[in-house]
Amino acid sequence: MSSPIPCYLPRVTIVGAGRVGSTLAQRIAEKNLADVVLLDIVEGMPQGLALDLMEARGIEIHNRQIIGTNNYADTAGSEIVVITAGLPRKPGMSRDDLLKTNAKIVVEAAKNAIAHSPNAIFIIVTNPLDVMTYLAWQATGLSRSRIMGMAGVLDSARFETFIALELGVLPADVKAMVLGSHGDLMVPLSRYATVNGIPITELLDAATIERLIERTRNGGAEIVELMQTGGAFFAPASATSVMVESILLNQSRLLPIAAYLQGEYGLEDVVIGVPCRLGCGGIESILELNLSDSEREALQTSAQSVRRNIERSQEILAGKL
Ligand code: NAI
Ligand code: 2OP
Repeated sequence: MSSPIPCYLPRVTIVGAGRVGSTLAQRIAEKNLADVVLLDIVEGMPQGLALDLMEARGIEIHNRQIIGTNNYADTAGSEIVVITAGLPRKPGMSRDDLLKTNAKIVVEAAKNAIAHSPNAIFIIVTNPLDVMTYLAWQATGLSRSRIMGMAGVLDSARFETFIALELGVLPADVKAMVLGSHGDLMVPLSRYATVNGIPITELLDAATIERLIERTRNGGAEIVELMQTGGAFFAPASATSVMVESILLNQSRLLPIAAYLQGEYGLEDVVIGVPCRLGCGGIESILELNLSDSEREALQTSAQSVRRNIERSQEILAGKL
């Protein structure tokens, strides 16, 4: 008699069923990666979205379950928890303006989620990203391999998009890595950017590359200014789904991920985007690139600004601000 087919259905909880959260739920279900629990504080909203996604299953041809809830008990036993809960930016707002409101939301969400899924790997999306990831790490007490932030995959995808548009090539043929914090001080590494192995420095002049870097730094704000009613969510959801996929399928992809550093790149006790190998155990290793002096300086400046906001967030959470 043949052995029974293993029936293992991974579960991903998404806290915050807004634009990023609901689009991510769609991506995960339609890529057939996992069952999804969508949780939000707004009553009825995640339930309605889940039902809508369930009704698309026959058309999209998959059989993943999507559950909408306002109760953390329904998230129990998740392999991955993604936190997207919190306010998005409005025109003229920086990601750091969101600090005060979102710090409390993310800490509460992380504590509630870990209580029901103690073995989960956490991916934070809420802004300001690097600080929120630090706070979630503090709140959960997880080892640094199991908690991380999504930003670098999105920022790199934007840089790749602008390079592809400039050269008129397929975006998938462009590979680039953006490190540092998710904000104006991000660190796009142009000398590592290639089109199918050809360095972009062979294909574009320095002024053009600088213009594309500036557009990348401003990538989130450009969309907020155009939309006026919130920020980007399609590409952020795609970027997060790539991280979910690399964990669930143990792909060990090398991705720029906001990670807690303990001496790497000369940085300590701060969360910032660096190249990480991402597999079923979470962050399997952090790659230390041989940065030039100016790149290292830019990463230090980026880390200093995150550190200042971590300090502010500690005062906010202690009720001093
Ligand atoms: P949204 O406003 O569409 O959704 C946020 C959701 O969070 C809302 O449905 C809201 O009800 C929910 N929420 C608020 N407090 C909650 C709580 N205590 N528990 C559970 N749910 C709660 O916003 P959107 O566009 O989905 O963005 C979400 C966050 O992600 C924002 O902070 C945004 O800045 C950030 N973001 C980060 C990116 C990145 O690269 N890291 C990219 C895009 C967005
Ligand atoms: C973005 O980069 C707002 O962080 C968000 O689109």
